[in-house]
Amino acid sequence: MKVAFYSVKEYDRELFGEYSAEYEFLFLKNHLRQETAGLAEGYDAVCVFVNDELTRPVLEQLSECGVKLVALRCAGFNNVDIVAAKELGIAVTRVPAYSPNAVAEHAVAMLLTLNRKTHRAYNRVREGNFELNGLLGFDLVGKTVGVYGTGKIGLLFAKIMKGFGCEVIVYDPFPSDEAKQYRLVDQESLFSESDIVSLHCPLMKETYHLYDEETFAKSKKGFTLINTGRGGLVDARAAIEALKSGQLGYLAMDVYEEEKDYFFDDQSSGIIQDDVLMRLMTFHNVLITGHQGFFTREALGGIVETTVENLRAFEAGKELVNAVLPVDV
Ligand code: NAI
Repeated sequence: MKVAFYSVKEYDRELFGEYSAEYEFLFLKNHLRQETAGLAEGYDAVCVFVNDELTRPVLEQLSECGVKLVALRCAGFNNVDIVAAKELGIAVTRVPAYSPNAVAEHAVAMLLTLNRKTHRAYNRVREGNFELNGLLGFDLVGKTVGVYGTGKIGLLFAKIMKGFGCEVIVYDPFPSDEAKQYRLVDQESLFSESDIVSLHCPLMKETYHLYDEETFAKSKKGFTLINTGRGGLVDARAAIEALKSGQLGYLAMDVYEEEKDYFFDDQSSGIIQDDVLMRLMTFHNVLITGHQGFFTREALGGIVETTVENLRAFEAGKELVNAVLPVDV
């Protein structure tokens, strides 16, 4: 089977390359867009990542190229028009879980950085400045932590925060039995009662700009928001206003709505044109990482393993246990 990989980094090439005896791989650095879809001509499958764009026109082009499978090497699938793929007879698979611990732990790392200001202390101490002014933090014990979405990652995050002695409250429209060990609340209560909110739901119509001007206004004054879910969950312009007024005390973002133009690439020699992103970077109480929540050795190993299993199942005509169907959208 011939598989064209888009948005390839060195680590993808190295890890997937171990299976090159089994498959004919084409490793492309390009992101998948209308302009680059033609590179998959003659390939049976494309293997793509979070910022590749699988819109209807791109999928139509891929179909004309002979592509029958889109193998996502990530969990989220908001970048794929699943209905169009189904209509074109293109199967879509994903990696539903690959060390959810990696993302949950990253969310905690971001929280601990912001609340104890270690990002500022690191720079300050290296300059020989041991002054403590401006580094005053807050204890996590006793704080109310709202977990929005209690799937694999949300539940792990909740467990860690419980270990810190926080009061964990959760919201999920389809709570599992495991989620029910925490206090289940409605959305409004989660917004208004939480000192810290962490987002772990998928990006969908219902969750697009979940945090907008209105939600910020009904949140606790000075609360902390952590987003390791998807950028579109937070209206970044509204976040800037909330930061300026002090309504939002701290913001951690591993994801950003317009990240596809910047994240995963070295932009240090160019001029970043996104004024919203640049404004966010000016706040000392905002921490941005470039979608690295998943980036641990363990998680990468899991991604490769499941993606290869998905390719094998497709090739053998077996049931695709990790298929994404229109009903999931
Ligand atoms: P999951 O599928 O196990 O859990 C998602 C949970 O969200 C489910 O419990 C579901 O019932 C709930 N949910 C569905 N609709 C909702 C709504 N309208 N409001 C609130 N909750 C809702 O997914 P998992 O593995 O826990 O991942 C969560 C999200 O994390 C993914 O959708 C993805 O966007 C993001 N992610 C980020 C990564 C990163 O590197 N930063 C890596 C992997 C995932």
